[in-house]
Amino acid sequence: MSASNTPVPLTAGKSQNLRGVAVIPGDKSVSHRALIFGAMAVGETVITGLLEGEDVLDTARAMKALGAKVTRDEDGTWRVNGVGTGGFREPDHVIDCGNSGTGCRLIMGTVATHPFSVTFTGDASLCSRPMGRILDPLSLFGTRSEGRSGGRLPLTLIGTDNPVPVTYKLPMASAQVKSAVLLAGLNAPGVTTVIEPEATRDHTERMLRGFGAAIEIHETDEGREISLEGQPELTSCAVTVPRDPSSAAFPVVAALITKGSEISIAGVSRNPTRDGLYHTLIEMGGDLTFTNEREEGGEPVADLLVRHSALHGVSVPADRAASMIDEYPILSVAAAFAEGDTVMNGVGELRVKESDRIAAMEAGLNANGVKTSSTPCTFTVTGHNGSGVPGGASVVAHLDHRIAMSFAVLGLAALRPVTVDDASPIATSFPDFQTLMCGLGARLS
Ligand code: S3P
Repeated sequence: MSASNTPVPLTAGKSQNLRGVAVIPGDKSVSHRALIFGAMAVGETVITGLLEGEDVLDTARAMKALGAKVTRDEDGTWRVNGVGTGGFREPDHVIDCGNSGTGCRLIMGTVATHPFSVTFTGDASLCSRPMGRILDPLSLFGTRSEGRSGGRLPLTLIGTDNPVPVTYKLPMASAQVKSAVLLAGLNAPGVTTVIEPEATRDHTERMLRGFGAAIEIHETDEGREISLEGQPELTSCAVTVPRDPSSAAFPVVAALITKGSEISIAGVSRNPTRDGLYHTLIEMGGDLTFTNEREEGGEPVADLLVRHSALHGVSVPADRAASMIDEYPILSVAAAFAEGDTVMNGVGELRVKESDRIAAMEAGLNANGVKTSSTPCTFTVTGHNGSGVPGGASVVAHLDHRIAMSFAVLGLAALRPVTVDDASPIATSFPDFQTLMCGLGARLS
């Protein structure tokens, strides 16, 4: 249900010939980080293209509560006047991270090595998600915590006034955990090191460099080793937020499965730690053409042309999971229209996202006449090539923006309309989703 507890249903009906240029909003991961790093830097950080979704706005409020000055110009430029490394103050109230695991986990990292306590809460989805994966490495710095069973929110983090630097090997592929440890290490004396056996999105490392931190990255037999020297003076900078590839994925798949479609998307991220979906869709027979490869705001980007395509099932390797972890719900919609089975391997992390995304997609796909099967770490969708996806059902979004958008896209090409019980969570990452999709010709109401 929505934050106001009033569900907002959304129905998608059969559409054709999606056409036009999709202007995708700013990247959620980069937006959170731009606010957090700006708040830890000395001077004024100027951010253009910030995603103004609820998740990011919650992080902006948290940075204010910790003592940074955060303002928005009329033209949508954001300015953050930071407090310097180690300069946060104890907030007067509970930090509410809403629906955002990224905001919550990164902010926990930043405050963990400050000498005060902070209480965190969130919506029903966030309060059900595991925080032990953050609390365990933070305890190595000397941070303590008191929360609900399983380390779940609401919880209070008791920061340490005498942090020690840490070397930590990630037990799961998680950019959130990696980033929380690096952020905690910023305010610990000495060198903090994270070893990631599988590469995850690298926005924290890229941005730390941009803000002047001394960070070194080495490929080792154990994986990528990222080390930073603690207590640097971070200096403010200008951040241009690239467009979010995870949001672009929805119009991309909509165009692939909707007859007669041809859309283009300007400046889509080609960061190799984020572009696994594009490789997968091309392997499935998707007609995707990238042109004008360039760099914007420190990230590789390109323009993308997408045409309706006949897709076939593929086996998606486990080692690609981290580079498309948020795209499996919409990939499973593409898979529903493909010929044969699409097997997604090594996707156990989907079970601890905003919802259990394997369970949510299975339930919604099955209700709409698509066969699936799963194990704890794999998900298989049997495509409906030729006969069409029946549709006609109402699905439960489980407070998960990506589940809501995925089923809205399914309904555009299904034989009968598909209804999402509550589309309000879409505002967390893609507030203009409906306007953008309808502008391309989608029937959403
Ligand atoms: C994110 C990392 C991913 C992703 C999330 C954003 C980030 O989570 O699912 O939407 O910005 O660091 P994990 O790193 O936990 O897989």
